[in-house]
Formats: sequence, structure tokens, C-alpha cells
Amino acid sequence: MVGLGRVAVLGAGNIGGTLAQRLAEADLAEEVVLIDIIDGLPQGKALDIQESAPILGFSTRVRGSTSLDELEGTDLVVETAGLARKPGMSRSDLLEKNAGILATHAKAVRDHAPQAVVIVVTNPVDVMTYWFREVCGFPRNRVFGESGTLDTARFRTFVALELGVAPRDVTGFVLGTHGDTMVPVLSLTSVSGVPLTRLLPPERLHAIVERTKKGGGEIVDLLKSGSAYYAPSASQLELARAVALNEHRLLSAATILEGEFGERGLSIGVPAVIGRNGMEKVVEVPLDPAERSAFSASVAAVRADLEILAKLPKT
Ligand code: 2OP
Repeated sequence: MVGLGRVAVLGAGNIGGTLAQRLAEADLAEEVVLIDIIDGLPQGKALDIQESAPILGFSTRVRGSTSLDELEGTDLVVETAGLARKPGMSRSDLLEKNAGILATHAKAVRDHAPQAVVIVVTNPVDVMTYWFREVCGFPRNRVFGESGTLDTARFRTFVALELGVAPRDVTGFVLGTHGDTMVPVLSLTSVSGVPLTRLLPPERLHAIVERTKKGGGEIVDLLKSGSAYYAPSASQLELARAVALNEHRLLSAATILEGEFGERGLSIGVPAVIGRNGMEKVVEVPLDPAERSAFSASVAAVRADLEILAKLPKT
């Protein structure tokens, strides 16, 4: 069979709900189960999506539930649950709260869906990806995070808008963490094969890099409450499709490193091949000295958060 049996989306907020819709419309699985602790929210969103099937023509069955038992036999889990930072909340408060939620989910995934591939979305995503894998104990290939896929989509969009070309013709990578120290890699960016550095002057390139780094914040500032979910859910769909169709896509994903790029013991955005087995391999692309040093700064930022997490109980 091409595609998946059951996909579970944990968290029925704006991202989880929109992702469930995108997954259903892409017809990648027999069933999508949307799970949340707020009774009525996942059931309502799931039914609403399901009722669009006669018009849109998809066959995927969409259900909502408040029970983690619904993870039983799931092939793919997308973890979107968790809090966003509220006024007065420190970064470590957020880390601690989301780590608690993800620990419960990681144990449920381990017990009910031991063969699943897991895509982590919850912020801070690099650290949460590492934590989820620590708790569930899966091989590293079966737990990876969506971060660079979203940041790369923003980077490609800004390049396309600047040049007036089709967004899909712009390819490239944003590596490192999903935060202020992310690394949009100019040396790996091109438009239909033409290096970006030949198409734009340094000051325009610099402006695009800076806008990309603040891409999530730009949406938060515009919305005033809440954060982005259309581009995030599209990025998650890109990863989910690569798994469902075993596409072996080379994408930027938060990946647990075991020596690649000279690092281990953390998860961070690197180019990785994504297919039915999850993160199939890391591709160690060469970086120029400035990019390499920016990547090292990104690694340091993730390690600082991991130190906070190391003090939390896993059980
Ligand atoms: C974003 O970058 C909040 O991580 C989310 O939009």
C-alpha cells in the first residue's frame, strides 16, 4: 500500500487542526486521529474536516479523541501539543511545562505505537525533539523535528518575492536551531540552479537572512495573539508526505546528531533524508567558515536549553 494506515496528530490547536486538514486533503493515510485534552475540540475539528470530504474528494477518515489510547497501532505521530510562551513566563518555565506534556505523550507512543515515526513540532523544537526521543527510547531515525523545513520555506518565500520568481524554483537550506541563531545558508541556495549570490547584492541578501531569522516573530507581531500555523502545517505536511510515500526527500530537519557536523548529544536542524523509516541519513554538506561558526553558535544555544532539561525527571 502506498501511504499510511493511521496518523495521529497530538494537539488540536491551530497547528494541529490545520495539519489534520492538510493531511486529510492529501489523502496520505487511511485514518487521521486528532487528539487533545480539551473535550469537544478534537472531535469538533475532526468532524468538520470529515464533512468536507464529499466536496474535496479525499478518502481519509478523520476522527477526534481525548484518549491517548487512540495512538494504538499508529504509523506516524505528529506532536504539536504544548504551550506557547505567555507574558511573565521564562524560557525555562516553558521548557519545563512542555517537557512534562511531551513526556506523557512519549510514553504513550512507546506503549501504543512502538513502530511509529514521530515528527516533533512543539517549541523549543530542537530541544523537545531530543527530549521526546530520550523518553520514548526509539532509534534516532524515528524521532525528528520540524524546524528547518519551516524556516527554509520562509527563506525561499522571501527570496522569491525579492526576485519575482516562482517560490518553488528557489531551493536552499536553513540549518541550526529554530530560533534567533538559525543559519540561512546562502552558499546552498539557488534559483533553478543559479547561485543566489549571483542574483542579489550582499545588502539584499543580508536583509533576507535577517527577515528569515525573525520570520516566526513577524507573524506573531501581525496576529497580536497566537503564532503562525499555515506555513508550519504545510512544512509538517512536507515531512509527513516524505514518510508516507517513502520519498527520500533531502530536507532540513531537527535531527539527533551522533557525530555528524562534529556534534553529538543534541538535536538540531541539519540536511537529512526523510523517508518511510524517518530520518534515513544526515547529509554533511560543506559550510563556509562564517556559516560554520554561525552553526556552532546555534549548537551552543541548544546546549544551554538542554542543560535546563537535564535536571528534569524523565519518568
Ligand atoms: C513559528 O516559527 C511559532 O515556531 C513557530 O512560527
